[in-house]
Amino acid sequence: MTVARTADPYPRPCTTPDVPLTRDTECVDKTPVYFYSSTSNLTGRFAQHLAEATGRAVHNLADANVRRTEASGPWVLLTPSYKAGNADEVTLPAGVRSFLRSPANRRRMVGIIGSGNRNFGVYYQAAARELATKSGRPVLFEFELAGTPEDVTHCAQILDDLDAALAASHPVEA
Ligand SMILES: Cc1cc2nc3c(=O)[nH]c(=O)nc-3n(C[C@H](O)[C@H](O)[C@H](O)COP(=O)(O)O)c2cc1C
Repeated sequence: MTVARTADPYPRPCTTPDVPLTRDTECVDKTPVYFYSSTSNLTGRFAQHLAEATGRAVHNLADANVRRTEASGPWVLLTPSYKAGNADEVTLPAGVRSFLRSPANRRRMVGIIGSGNRNFGVYYQAAARELATKSGRPVLFEFELAGTPEDVTHCAQILDDLDAALAASHPVEA
């Protein structure tokens, strides 16, 4: 008989959460978020609010130890855009590019969340959007700077829906 997931087919990378996990906030069925944030920490603040709102594990790609890991199951990227101002127009932060050099990480990334600033005009959310085009993964949500409380609530709901969709697509045989 096919039932809803009772055991996680994907062991989740819960080893380095940046928020404490309790029984109620286990990340077993919650797709983790890997984010990059610069020293201004706008994206980091959003990630922290997301973790607090959902009990979801969030991992900071500014940490070299995190960049050296491989996600063991589906994961979501949260990235700001950084227009380099050079001919290459590299907008994806180096920490993110480093993590995505792993074929397993590229394969297991299931969606992208973008942090940006509309002042950058045509480059608004360039990193998230370009990566979505290149990877074939959807942009799940976009916000400006550190986002608003409403953004956190909206994004948390989208991620909860994603968790449910992943659970439904990977039923466990009882
Ligand atoms: C040098 C620089 C370049 C930026 N380039 C872009 C850009 O191309 N597109 C965009 O939407 N936002 C751009 N931003 C805005 C940042 O993506 C935005 O402020 C983000 O929230 C920063 O996150 P962080 O503080 O976690 O690094 C840029 C910001 C800076 C300082």
